[in-house]
Amino acid sequence: GPQERNHSWAISKDRRQRLPQSIIIGVRKGGTRALLEMLSLHPQVVAAHSEVHFFNVEENYHKGLDWYRAQMPVSSPAQITVEKTPAYFSSLKAPERIRAVDSSMKLLLIVRDPVERLVSDYTQILHNRKARHKPYQALEQILWKGRELNTQHKALQRSLYAQNLAQWLEVFPRAQIHIVDGGSLIREPLSEMRQVERFLELQPFLGPGNFYFNQTKGFYCLQARGLQHCLDQSKGRPHPTVNELLLEQLCTYFSEHNEDFFAMVGRTFNWC
Ligand code: A3P
Repeated sequence: GPQERNHSWAISKDRRQRLPQSIIIGVRKGGTRALLEMLSLHPQVVAAHSEVHFFNVEENYHKGLDWYRAQMPVSSPAQITVEKTPAYFSSLKAPERIRAVDSSMKLLLIVRDPVERLVSDYTQILHNRKARHKPYQALEQILWKGRELNTQHKALQRSLYAQNLAQWLEVFPRAQIHIVDGGSLIREPLSEMRQVERFLELQPFLGPGNFYFNQTKGFYCLQARGLQHCLDQSKGRPHPTVNELLLEQLCTYFSEHNEDFFAMVGRTFNWC
């Protein structure tokens, strides 16, 4: 009716850039882009397209909140703004800085089998080095010192979810962090996304029509308002084969850390 029209007119009048109410904090290669794009299908969500790196990079942080807000897309009051910067997860400063901006911030953390995540991380590094004609090493060369695991390696450390999450739980209550199962987001995106909708207190909107499996891509692609699209080709890349012994070693190494993580979040995952 006319009242409704008035209402939506009033909403569209207040279109402006706003600070995020929700942040995807990681993990790198967990499926953060898929999560952001799937969330963007929801009419109540607007998302910053690029990674913002505000809370982790000093140079950006010191530009201040007005700069941060200026990185956000325009929204109406009925919409929430979301940004994703996976580097926040391992940043020691990000948790407290985010709390200082908005203590009610809803945090999304998407995790994946830590060995798969590590191989995915390595695949990306390898791809970038090849593209820049830089020398590169096999994962075995990177992670083995003799036959011992080099546990100090950065990419390996990024798979230590418990260690990184502990920093966040010192600052935010558990209820303010929603864990997304990255493996499940690949296989059944709708069921994971419905849980995300509930956590963000959005109206239930996403349905089976928003996702279709693309045989060529080997992943689900997205559909809304008659438009279809898959994620960029850098998402869902084939991984190189990794030495079986190394994979086993990694599994063993992560298992204890995984148990810590399960205890922290109050649920388990079917990882290697
Ligand atoms: P791989 O490329 O190693 O398979 P991020 O966006 O955090 O970098 O995560 C990338 C990962 O998202 C990909 O890792 C892929 O497995 C996963 N992913 C989840 N859903 C996807 C989808 N629908 N299309 C493509 N990749 C998806």
